[in-house]
Amino acid sequence: MSSSAIPVSALDDYVGRGAHLYIKGVKHIDCASGTFNLSLGYDNPDVVAALHRQLDRVLHLSSEFTRSKSQEIFDLLRPVLPEHLDSFWFRDITGSTANEAAVRMAQKATGRTDVISLFLSHHGQSAAATGLSGNAFRQQSFSLPFVGSIKVPAPDCNHCFFGQTRDRCNMLCARRVEDFIEYASSGRVAAMVIEPILGNGGNVVPDPEYYSVIREICDRHGIVIIADEVQTGFGRTGSFFASTGYAKALRPDIITFAKGAGGVGIPVAGVLMRHELDVLEPWEHSSTSGANPLALVALEETVRYIRDNYILDNVTRMSKLLKYGLHELEAEFAPVMNVRGKGLMLAFDLPSAKDVSAFIGIARHHGLILRGSRYGFGNTVKVRPPLIVSEDDVDEILLGLRASLAEFNAPTEFNAPTEFTAPTESEKGM
Ligand SMILES: Cc1ncc(COP(=O)(O)O)c(C=O)c1O
Repeated sequence: MSSSAIPVSALDDYVGRGAHLYIKGVKHIDCASGTFNLSLGYDNPDVVAALHRQLDRVLHLSSEFTRSKSQEIFDLLRPVLPEHLDSFWFRDITGSTANEAAVRMAQKATGRTDVISLFLSHHGQSAAATGLSGNAFRQQSFSLPFVGSIKVPAPDCNHCFFGQTRDRCNMLCARRVEDFIEYASSGRVAAMVIEPILGNGGNVVPDPEYYSVIREICDRHGIVIIADEVQTGFGRTGSFFASTGYAKALRPDIITFAKGAGGVGIPVAGVLMRHELDVLEPWEHSSTSGANPLALVALEETVRYIRDNYILDNVTRMSKLLKYGLHELEAEFAPVMNVRGKGLMLAFDLPSAKDVSAFIGIARHHGLILRGSRYGFGNTVKVRPPLIVSEDDVDEILLGLRASLAEFNAPTEFNAPTEFTAPTESEKGM
């Protein structure tokens, strides 16, 4: 660069508009919603305007001064919450620490220690949240054990741990949790933490009966259920929380949220719980930026926008169109299988992890931003655009996927497909 050149930021290459990200002027539709946090897209005008107003007033306040704003936001949320969740804790900005807050609440309130979580789960990357998560690849280089962590098989019918099929499984993945409580715990289980749909684990959608069996077992053993709704919350699955819709039977004692709660990517996280679990002192769980004014303003405006613009209805309508289109692609292109998901948290599988990374690269050239999943079999492509997508946006996604699949299917010297064996009926599953 000559000394007279105007310095530009590397970020100047990126401009976000609605569900689209322009990279050096090239339009892409973002089917990953950023880092799965842009529930309202890149530049929702209401949220952005509210943030501008707050920027002009005050950027930081100690949480001592934001308590009444947090209360106002909780009052705004009340109509979309199960009645029994009557307390809140909005002092987090990441999902990882919101989950830690929930665990602390369960441990302090019950006087117990152990926490059950699922294989394939992801609850964050702080030390405790990493230790709770059901995967090895994020742990292997460190020593981050969560003392009292008990991992149990995930309710993943496509890869059943117990080798069953749904018609004859008697919901073993839920019922055998009782064996883990009996034989693998210290006898002091405080909580079970569950993503109602396992997001990073490969968009695993449990059968609804799973939730009711887990609820019954946890009731019997006095175990607090924590629904980690960091991915599924704020309208993603078509209800405000998954556990007020598809996963209602879970009746969680605590819900944690983050990601989409900030609407346009502003970091904010929180915990909603029964008042009996509202046991933490401020000094037992807080951070410098917890409940900061920008986070609270983004949270408030996101809740309002979802409510006033019928975003849940939009998710339900767009989900139907997108899922229908994905099923059409599944019928047309042999490598596509296991289309699944709720709301705008959809996914399909390709034969292998290698295929997924090749496909995502091809799709980028067709104007789609997509993400895969490193967990489990690593062969899942996630399709999760912002909740504000229009019919035109859905058409654009499906056209881009069709063109990408056509290219993926056409062998070239650079793009030799991996060997494909058609899935068996039971592999197609769910
Ligand atoms: C289900 C779930 N819980 C918790 C987290 C952690 O959230 P954060 O990255 O904000 O700490 C994530 C992040 O991907 C997540 O997907």
